[in-house]
Amino acid sequence: MKKFTYQYPVKVCFGDGIAKTALAAELEKYGNNVLLAYGGGSIKKVGIYDEIMEVLKAAGKNVTEFSGIMSNPTYAKVQSGAALARENEIDFILAVGGGSVIDCCKIVSAQAKLSEDIWNFEYGKGGQPKEFIPMGAVVTAFGTGAEMNNGAVITNEEKKQKSPLWGAFYDFAVLDVGYTMTMPMKQVISGAFDSLSHSMETYMGSPREINYSDEINEATQRNIIRNIRATLKNPDDRQARSELIWAAAMAENGMLKLGKVTDFQCHMLEHQLGAYTDCNHGQGLAVLHPSLYRHMMPEANKQFARLAVEVWGISTDGKTEAELANAFIDALAAFIKEIELPTTLTDMGIDDTDLEAIAKTTIRTGGCVKKFTDEELLSVLKECV
Ligand code: NZQ
Ligand code: ZN
Repeated sequence: MKKFTYQYPVKVCFGDGIAKTALAAELEKYGNNVLLAYGGGSIKKVGIYDEIMEVLKAAGKNVTEFSGIMSNPTYAKVQSGAALARENEIDFILAVGGGSVIDCCKIVSAQAKLSEDIWNFEYGKGGQPKEFIPMGAVVTAFGTGAEMNNGAVITNEEKKQKSPLWGAFYDFAVLDVGYTMTMPMKQVISGAFDSLSHSMETYMGSPREINYSDEINEATQRNIIRNIRATLKNPDDRQARSELIWAAAMAENGMLKLGKVTDFQCHMLEHQLGAYTDCNHGQGLAVLHPSLYRHMMPEANKQFARLAVEVWGISTDGKTEAELANAFIDALAAFIKEIELPTTLTDMGIDDTDLEAIAKTTIRTGGCVKKFTDEELLSVLKECV
């Protein structure tokens, strides 16, 4: 295992029906001016907004609303949130939503305290923001695990780049399955597939021998696969959904990453696909994963072969390592089909117009077993059409 220091700052409040009580207890610790951040309005339709407003009012908070945070949040939206936070002397940001709202606020929190443009600061000067407005998250759409880390994926429309920026950790995250029951099933499945992808992308990093983090990771992957199937069978299964929420959090709270350099090459490719097409993140990953993984052979065969056995329950009987590795990718592709995620870019309504630009602008990751050339990433994308 590689050297590491582990310290974890996010307090997690988890449980069915706990949201109001947990939030009321946490809000006492912060100043009065609260920025309430949410997305396109789902929380109003399903009653979460009213419940949260009631808690905020009872706590005597002055609420400024920051609404309309879109899926794949833009840099312009971050800037408008930061301006709102400054104008209203915000003491605390409450993010209520999925990964998009949660990510957007991490950078609002940093940008509001930073006098220069944060994109330039991080990408131009290699800076790391140090001052933040404190934040809490109430998760209404799970899968990304974004509430557990301080990385945010932001679409810079001017630069045509969907890239990670570093912001604040949340002080607390409320994970109440009751607040997720109204998620559209398509979002539940694409979100849970995102969690599976995070686990796989962590596992596929280096060093390539299997360590303790990887063994926990294998259990996480098995759990996600089982609970996606259970949720599809019975959408009201709160036990299955609760486990998916916690598995999503486990995949992104750093535990599985200890002692490793992660891979995340598929994510970098999907993010650029998102920069050019504004597509759904989990769906994009579902299309790209099998094809990218076939291109990671034979370098990745050892890890793929172990996943075949430990996660997908494939028998080793008479199989070579390469055959097992292939069987893993076949099982993954069959699962994606079984749970009715898209399997081609065409299924997602994406044509081949921008594929060259997407391949060229994709970040290459240090932990990936292979250094992809532009040409090979383009082949991956073309195979997905
Ligand atoms: O916008 P509203 O109207 O709220 O509707 C949302 C949105 O349309 C809806 N929704 C949320 N809660 C709901 C609900 N609908 C009904 N009932 C509820 N309780 O769900 C839709 C999707 O929400 P969104 O937040 O966009 O999805 P997700 O959680 O998948 O987040 C995607 C974003 O997270 C980034 C992705 O790149 C993408 O931008 N990621 C962030 C990561 C991180 N910071 O660690 C890791 C991931 O790899 C990912 O890249
Ligand atoms: Zn993801």
